[in-house]
Amino acid sequence: MSELLDARGRTRRTLILTGAAAMAGWAGRAPALAMRDVSGADPFTLGVASGDPHADGVVLWTRLAPQPLAADGFGGMPARRVQVRWTLATDEACTKVARTGDVSADPAAAHSVHVEVRGLTPGREYFYRFEAMGHRSRIGRTRTAPGLGGGAAAAGPARFGVVSCARYESGYFTAYGHLAAERPDLVLHLGDYVYEYAGTPKSVRPFEAPETTTLAGYRDRYALYRTDPDLQTLHATAPFAVVWDDHEVDNNWAGEVPEDGQTREQFLARRAVAFQAYYEMMPLRGVARPAGSSARLYRQIAWGDLASICMLDTRQFRDDQPCGDGNKPACEARLDQARQMLGPVQEGWLRERAARSRAIWDVLGQQVFFGELVRPLPDGRDALPMDSWNGYVAARGRVLDMYTARPHNLVVLTGDVHRHFAGTLHAGGGPADAPVVGTEFVATSVTSAGDGSDDGAAVQALLGRNPNLRFSADRRGYLLADITPSTWTTHFRTVPWVTRAAAPVQTRASFVVEAGRPGLNRLS
Ligand SMILES: [Fe+2]
Repeated sequence: MSELLDARGRTRRTLILTGAAAMAGWAGRAPALAMRDVSGADPFTLGVASGDPHADGVVLWTRLAPQPLAADGFGGMPARRVQVRWTLATDEACTKVARTGDVSADPAAAHSVHVEVRGLTPGREYFYRFEAMGHRSRIGRTRTAPGLGGGAAAAGPARFGVVSCARYESGYFTAYGHLAAERPDLVLHLGDYVYEYAGTPKSVRPFEAPETTTLAGYRDRYALYRTDPDLQTLHATAPFAVVWDDHEVDNNWAGEVPEDGQTREQFLARRAVAFQAYYEMMPLRGVARPAGSSARLYRQIAWGDLASICMLDTRQFRDDQPCGDGNKPACEARLDQARQMLGPVQEGWLRERAARSRAIWDVLGQQVFFGELVRPLPDGRDALPMDSWNGYVAARGRVLDMYTARPHNLVVLTGDVHRHFAGTLHAGGGPADAPVVGTEFVATSVTSAGDGSDDGAAVQALLGRNPNLRFSADRRGYLLADITPSTWTTHFRTVPWVTRAAAPVQTRASFVVEAGRPGLNRLS
């Protein structure tokens, strides 16, 4: 028993019971992963996670927080370092140990732990857990990426899940639970992992908190989300590759420009604490650790010869939205050649990655709608979403040019708009009758915007106005991508409701892209 167990009272007991109830839920979903000795103030209330797999290693993550929602953001931990043991094994019971070690959980990082394990076997499954303060965490499953160099014949299949936009108060994270049951090899989380808004009392899952602006506020928001059993199960089932969108900091922020009401200095201070809390809570490598209000989140994940995944940051380095932001009629500014979405450094990095890529599939994991999207206004005029790449037309053309100088199989994965979409991308960012040079799959939200609807007329009106788009659905869910050297198949998975628990999942449509033949082929 640690000293912490002796020093606290009733509140801790309540939390233990909450944790036990959550365990009962996990046990029903993933019995092989649920293993824990609960005998006191469990510091593993936020679960475990892994991320950013390389061929020879992966990041293992946890954060010690016996009182995860403590108002000071420290999770009920003492203001001292605590030793954490980690174990990586080759079997589900975590007994055939491949690597183990000790790491110090530091109060300056809210007792979060990021272990970058190296020297592992490419393309294989591993299991891991942590021990601290007399407790063991649950066991998580992860995997390394396949190695490079075997060519197409050696590039095995892969299954990726794609998610974005999970607003806690809007509904249940049922979609995360269903995705866990599909046992993906990798989950791409494309942003809006949390929402910064103040809690609203009349929501599906109400909570009391102001809008997040402080380090404690952001830490507690992540902790609230991470106590969700479906999200914990998904993290314990597959490694994540994460990037933020806007709500991890402030709605529709752009570079150094906040949504409203803050000076540049105030906003950069807010951005710094938001970035810090994000890094603390995500299974990221040390290179992503923020320095003040700056962080390098963009990076490449090589999935053997099968896929090169470039995770992009479309928030930190962009120019402010043109034409007044929102859905607005086109104005000249959106066509300005100098306008930046990625910023010159990230754009140069991506150009170099694209030029060097020999992967079968070139994947961009990013936040905002990439292809053309026209949204007719009630007055009959056409509007474009200026927060998306439609407000950064020259930057979009430059990215597409990177992937058309020689043939690539370009797949852009997107979040943000709270609807599923499948669309084609056209040479130079041109219209739908220009040659197809890539495909965009947009993942709907996990909960944001609530249950949604099956209003076919609304969907048809949108598709009719956008000939580059082939499919849309206004339900919550995720993408499931089954990838082979010859085909990329995206299944659009949806749940019929999120305002109640336990929704079933269905496939609304599946599309196949054939390697070497850009374009969408509908399966179902
Ligand atoms: Fe969102």
